[in-house]
Amino acid sequence: MRSLGKMSKVVVLSLFEFEGSSIVPMRAFAPQAKADGHRRGWVRCSLALLLTALLAPWCAAQSRPTLAPLPPMGWNDWAHYQCDFTAQTILENAHALVRTGLAARGYRTVTIDDCWMLKDRDSHGNLQADPERFPHGMKAVADAVHSLGLKFGIYEDAGSQTCGGFAGSGVPDGGGRDHFLQDAKLFASWGVDYLKLDGCNVYAAKGESQNAAYRAAYRAQSAALHQVARPVIFSESAPAYFQDTTDWYDVLSWVRHYGQLWREGSDIATFDAKAPNAPRFHSVLWNYAYNLPLGRFQSPGNWNDADFLIGGDGGVTLAETRSQMALWSMMSAPLILSSDLNMLSPAAISALSNQAVLSVDQDSLGRMATLLRRTPSSDLLFKELAAGRYAVAVLNRGSAPLRVELHASDLGFEPAGCRFASTDLWSGTREPDALSLQAEIAPHDTAIWKIQPAAACGVPARTGVITRLASGRHRDVEGYALCLASSGDVEACSASEGQRWTVTSSGALESSGRCLAAVDGKVLMQTCGSSDAQRWEYTLLGDLVNRNNHLCLTGHKANGLTVETCGHSPATQIWSLPNDPGYR
Ligand code: GLA
Repeated sequence: MRSLGKMSKVVVLSLFEFEGSSIVPMRAFAPQAKADGHRRGWVRCSLALLLTALLAPWCAAQSRPTLAPLPPMGWNDWAHYQCDFTAQTILENAHALVRTGLAARGYRTVTIDDCWMLKDRDSHGNLQADPERFPHGMKAVADAVHSLGLKFGIYEDAGSQTCGGFAGSGVPDGGGRDHFLQDAKLFASWGVDYLKLDGCNVYAAKGESQNAAYRAAYRAQSAALHQVARPVIFSESAPAYFQDTTDWYDVLSWVRHYGQLWREGSDIATFDAKAPNAPRFHSVLWNYAYNLPLGRFQSPGNWNDADFLIGGDGGVTLAETRSQMALWSMMSAPLILSSDLNMLSPAAISALSNQAVLSVDQDSLGRMATLLRRTPSSDLLFKELAAGRYAVAVLNRGSAPLRVELHASDLGFEPAGCRFASTDLWSGTREPDALSLQAEIAPHDTAIWKIQPAAACGVPARTGVITRLASGRHRDVEGYALCLASSGDVEACSASEGQRWTVTSSGALESSGRCLAAVDGKVLMQTCGSSDAQRWEYTLLGDLVNRNNHLCLTGHKANGLTVETCGHSPATQIWSLPNDPGYR
């Protein structure tokens, strides 16, 4: 689209609606002509010629590499500084990225979060960088960041004001003109490479749903970014404003049309200079908990964002730093540091820049980790990597050391005696021919390995727990998800065999050799067979729809499993399956 002239753009935009990197025909667009055959033929022919001319650049654009084929990496000031920063703070951290070697390992985009601008626009409607924080303006900072070989990112908001109350890009409260295109042009003139668009104060007109208002705003910003002659990675915060509502899943299914990554939930705990050592690991675990069941929404180019890496900062121990790195990497989450980089210990820098762990995050398949097993104090995670390799991690959430010994059968490999090469990614210890993974894991630490199974091991079954969210507003791992049990219930997750499921290639859900079936409105376990009553279609929203009766698997805690009419994403009907290959 960028190579088209101004006139052509106007024509194309009237025929098509932008959907991020793709363009879909507008539903409302239909030929109006009711003239005779000759005229219709002429119109058709002209339209075909016009479309050919106009679509050629679009087709070329489709073959361009996506903007974020791997989870984005960088640094952002927010979680450490909030509004307490100046240009100097930003540049000191940019220099630290280079000096510590973190930039060389991939942390390359420096993003300035909220509070950089004034509350009002200038007389031309342009945003104004706060002159006290940025005495030489924003372009000077962007240039300085670029001169270090880094990328430059900035924050704005889809509403009338940012979360901090500064000038937003969106429609003013009560209605009026937005500034998405004007701001995108300004950002491009500064050399912005990455835009985080927050979602505070979004105005919904009378009769317009919140969901529709957010979608219109993010679509408008995406279209504006496509109109400026600069590739800008677009980070969307929209889903975070729908967490705990049934619209959450719908919003999560449209953001990918407009941007490359999105925040889905609550903020990670910020640093408090008045209580610098206040513990923050609970917040790391909470963001991990809500991000983990959302694998179906991500695929290379589009990423769930579990929020900043606060590892190494005040309130996060070295074991907890390792855990956040390992968990974020197992989830293919964006890795955006948000600490005072000049205060990081050498051990923290080494954990944050561990190349082997980073390679799990930056794996080209972009998979979400599968939860193989959850006990009251530990999670066992498994992730398929490119080239026949796999990553395995065990998180110790408890307060006592945890001894683990894992065999290939625990990971879904069926042949008895399956052997594999393994590397412990923290110590670098390599076992060329192992039968098990063993570790003693300190409280709040996470062990992580890469394994390469021998050819005889075959490919692992699609095995793990099947979870649904617990109703209510739980803010911890244990309270957030319930596990589907073959006893015909949803219950607190334990390591029991009855909570271990295999999703077969024909859509059966199998546990201990029996299959889940819907028969006469009841859900029960049967001898596995080929009946449609034992086949479940998994939708993007997270429904498990029975192929026989087209009803949704519904898990009422204590009252057991039923099949019911599929509703508007109630918690009882949204499931997370093992080894989700991502957006379909
Ligand atoms: C929201 C976002 C944070 C940060 C602040 C800035 O809370 O989720 O990441 O951008 O706004 O005000």
